[in-house]
Amino acid sequence: MSSSPPRPPGRRRLFVTTALPYANGPFHIGHIMEYIQADVWVRFQRMQGHEVHFVCADDTHGAPIMLKAEAEGVTPEELVGRIAATRPKHLAGFHISFDHWHSTDSPENVELSQDIFRKLRDRVPSLVTTRPVEQFYDPVKAMFLPDRYIKGECPKCAAKDQYGDACEVCGAVYAPTELRNPYSTISGATPVRKSSEHYFFRLSDPACVEFLREWTQGGRLQPEVANKALEWLAGDAGMADWDISRDAPYFGIEIPDAPGKYFYVWLDAPIGYLASLKAHLAHLGADFATFLAGEDVDQYHFIGKDIVYFHTLFWPAMLKFAGAPYKVPDNVFVHGFITFSGEKMSKSRGTGVSPDVYLDLGLNPEWLRYYLAAKLNARVEDIDFNPDDFLARVNSDLVGKYVNIASRAANFVTRHFDGHLTTAWEAPEERLLQTLRDAQPAIARAYADREFGKAVREIMRLADLVNQYVDAEKPWELAKAMATGGGFRERLHQICSVSLNAFFLLTKYLAPILPATAERVSTFLNENALDWDNVRLLSHCKAYEHLITRIDPRAIDALLAGPKAAAQTPAGGVAPEPAAAEIGIDDFARVDLRIARIVAAEHVEGAAKLLQLTLDVGEGRHRTVFAGIKSAYRPEDLVGRLTPMVANLAPRKMKFGLSEGMVLAASGDGPGIFLLAPDAGAQPGMRVK
Ligand code: MSP
Ligand code: ZN
Repeated sequence: MSSSPPRPPGRRRLFVTTALPYANGPFHIGHIMEYIQADVWVRFQRMQGHEVHFVCADDTHGAPIMLKAEAEGVTPEELVGRIAATRPKHLAGFHISFDHWHSTDSPENVELSQDIFRKLRDRVPSLVTTRPVEQFYDPVKAMFLPDRYIKGECPKCAAKDQYGDACEVCGAVYAPTELRNPYSTISGATPVRKSSEHYFFRLSDPACVEFLREWTQGGRLQPEVANKALEWLAGDAGMADWDISRDAPYFGIEIPDAPGKYFYVWLDAPIGYLASLKAHLAHLGADFATFLAGEDVDQYHFIGKDIVYFHTLFWPAMLKFAGAPYKVPDNVFVHGFITFSGEKMSKSRGTGVSPDVYLDLGLNPEWLRYYLAAKLNARVEDIDFNPDDFLARVNSDLVGKYVNIASRAANFVTRHFDGHLTTAWEAPEERLLQTLRDAQPAIARAYADREFGKAVREIMRLADLVNQYVDAEKPWELAKAMATGGGFRERLHQICSVSLNAFFLLTKYLAPILPATAERVSTFLNENALDWDNVRLLSHCKAYEHLITRIDPRAIDALLAGPKAAAQTPAGGVAPEPAAAEIGIDDFARVDLRIARIVAAEHVEGAAKLLQLTLDVGEGRHRTVFAGIKSAYRPEDLVGRLTPMVANLAPRKMKFGLSEGMVLAASGDGPGIFLLAPDAGAQPGMRVK
């Protein structure tokens, strides 16, 4: 194996990931926040001269994606491919600098998942066991039912249509097997209990527990994360055996030597980090095993607080006991959730900020990067997106304090000094610059520790000093007095030159957060702002062009309004009619049935039964239909589905808006409402006859 070229001492190779997003929908603002956090850190590390391999992938496997694809009449691969196609726009749009984006549905992931499983099974036999498990089985659909696809009556209060884990009406918590009159939400059939052989990862194995104690309690994790891990390690429930197998039909990776068995999606998902790294290294012509064996290689995962269990227990244990060539993570960096004006963001209610709308409106991605960075720290704390705060921080701090320094000084320099800068200034100027330079190690420390808010506060404190200096020196008065001689011209030159040098230092400090701005400043000032160790003084500047503009409050209104609200519409609940009078074919032909694609589905405030559907009926515009299917469907599970609709039903004005048609669903005396779906190949707008 070829040895890598020698690296300067202290220079490390960092393998960095963010959590792999489920490939059943486009990015939401929570994903973008995670990527911005990781990207700022990665860019900082690159500026330090470290070699970074920053990768991610789509998390593609599992029952929900399989069933969603089926409902849409496409293969899971097609569904996943459609979502993957939306990734580049968002990643490029927010300046996220992944080196590679992969998929868990890839040859690398099959190979690595099976290899890790085999190594675990063969190297530490006590860690992998099998035993029969009895579960609900849908006899119509011929598949075992994940809990979320089982509904029934609450065993406590008898409320109908409750999920298998908890009652939304009385709050009772129970097992799916305790539901009364359970039914499969996939077929409506009554599930039966059926047994099958499952594979388990025995987290409670003493060697495993010992390793995890040491790995989680050794001081690497954030204190709140380490405490959580300790609770799990100490409590029996936390260390239950982990069921890692699923029976066919399942969209996943086959378990070696176990026909019809697939890895549970959470087994192959983190291995997707390695699959992405492997594909990335292959592009670079580097060897995966050699890379992971490097003593100068660190492995870091950025994740949200909801997936700590998988990343601090299973994942390190899997890697540890699979052994070489795998490497135990050096750390897992956990962030909180982004909330929206104090509320949990909800995709279905349409609250929050849509990354898509943000980019489509042409809003500057660096506004969002700056705002989130200013609020981020190394703790597992939720951070709130507040529109007024967003506007204020960007307009008064980023533009008012930072950009302002350049615009004020550069105009004098181009107008009066032909873009040339002097370095012949006085002691106060030197002191000002020295103060800025002296702050560099503390800023570096803050970035390295993911204390971005602290870094931003320190940088803005320095910007304040520079602005105070300029305010005190009043270059605009010097410019007026210049014609009178008296050294005013020289003094103006000094002040503007030192201001621009200060601005350059601030740009360097902000570069991990504002990479595009830093590049433009590098061009504007003829010096590289992306080199952390750059201490050269500036010699000239180009004519000032806007680097970052202020946010127009109207842009925020547009952002919050979300995707253009489709025309209001349709009709409400579908009531079962036992019989109807005979009709002729002409009567039937008057009903214009069309295939519609559900492009959006939302809860309707104050409506107990309705969902608001936005339908694409191939007309070049969208229709709104209110459908009484709330009890049977979660809005997010409907998006993308095809269904027939009555397209020529007279629009009906409802309390919630205008309904422009009706979707078709079946229901009977028993529980459940079943939306109709066409066979594969049908397209929006097709006539149903
Ligand atoms: N597919 C799994 C992760 C597998 S990693 C081997 C998953 N996907 S996810 O799409 O639901 O979430 C991806 C990441 O986004 C997670 O780190 C999650 O914590 C993060 N976030 C999801 N909602 C979030 C917010 N509202 N705010 C910030 N991050 C959030 O989990
Ligand atoms: Zn109940």
